Amino acid sequence: MSADIRGHVAEALATLSPSQIDFLRRLPKAELHAHLNGSIPLPIIREFAKEYKPISPQFHKYSVEQIQDGVKQLEDFNLENIYGFFGPFAIIYALTSTKENLQKATRAVLAEFLDGETPQCSYLELRSTPREAVEMTRLDYVQTVLDEVEKYPKDRTALIVSLDRKMKPEVMQEVIDIAKKLRSEGRRVVGVDLCGDPLAGDMYSQSVAKCFEEARNAGLKVTLHIAETMDNPAQENIQLLSYKPNRLGHATFLNDEANAIVLQEKIAIEICLSSNLLCKTVSTLDAHHIRYYLKNDHPVAICTDDILPFRNSLLGEYALLLAKAPYGLGLSEDEVARIAQMSMESRFV
Ligand code: IMP
Ligand code: ZN
Repeated sequence: MSADIRGHVAEALATLSPSQIDFLRRLPKAELHAHLNGSIPLPIIREFAKEYKPISPQFHKYSVEQIQDGVKQLEDFNLENIYGFFGPFAIIYALTSTKENLQKATRAVLAEFLDGETPQCSYLELRSTPREAVEMTRLDYVQTVLDEVEKYPKDRTALIVSLDRKMKPEVMQEVIDIAKKLRSEGRRVVGVDLCGDPLAGDMYSQSVAKCFEEARNAGLKVTLHIAETMDNPAQENIQLLSYKPNRLGHATFLNDEANAIVLQEKIAIEICLSSNLLCKTVSTLDAHHIRYYLKNDHPVAICTDDILPFRNSLLGEYALLLAKAPYGLGLSEDEVARIAQMSMESRFV
């Protein structure tokens, strides 16, 4: 497990007794919302930065000095709000734009979540956005990630392919075609995701609707980042729900109409407590929308989102459930066990 846990999760963990931590460690739980490039352990990022050579003007846009500065910023990560959050990914992408580094990064992320005597989770659904990189097509990208994922047994991990809201329609279509093709070949792609800058792109377009329809028809499950900010229009949220998602990421600012659909359809919510607090889309744990879903006995899955910038861990996120206020939500062990069980029940396999 990463040693460099900070902030809310570190404080919550510090309030728990050894037996409470042991209880959390032993709970079977599924991590269903972790972005590959947002989950690379810092030591691996430092290693990539040390070896960085800008060999491709297209994919290595930064000088060695710029990369070093970027890594330093990542080490002292300081989020102003969610809009400032996407910048650091440009530096990370420059570091994972070769097949060798993408492979190493994937291996390290899988190990971070799945290896060791008390792994962070029993099961990981890792997600990543296919990118063109040095001598790699988007198809090569997904195959490279899958090759690592498939080194683990089927009941431990699988891949979700992400669409970025900024993608041009033809790129979105290409990504869906890749996901369908690999699934039909028996590769371990279980779903598609919609992510990226929450205010980018046109989510009403025919091409977006077609992508999700095709994915569903091919047997792929759908998860969507939705209502991540207050500025996501209510109408857009309803539009996204019309794509019949199986799960939703964040779902922070859904109105009554949208929530009625979510409850009715029992669409599980991927809850990322630290991510929401650090991106300041939720002001305090006490005000978090997880309370609404728990009160309504609605399925939720506790997830980390991006452990690289947020310096959290899945154990730490569960500590936020169990720790007493103000460090956590003060839930009972039975309630926390039920939440962990819901994460297992919300898997795409
Ligand atoms: P990747 O898909 O493996 O490259 O992981 C990093 C990418 O995930 C980022 O560039 C974003 O597009 C996306 N991402 C990570 N965290 C969030 C989030 O909280 N909201 C929306 N998109 C996110
Ligand atoms: Zn996310």
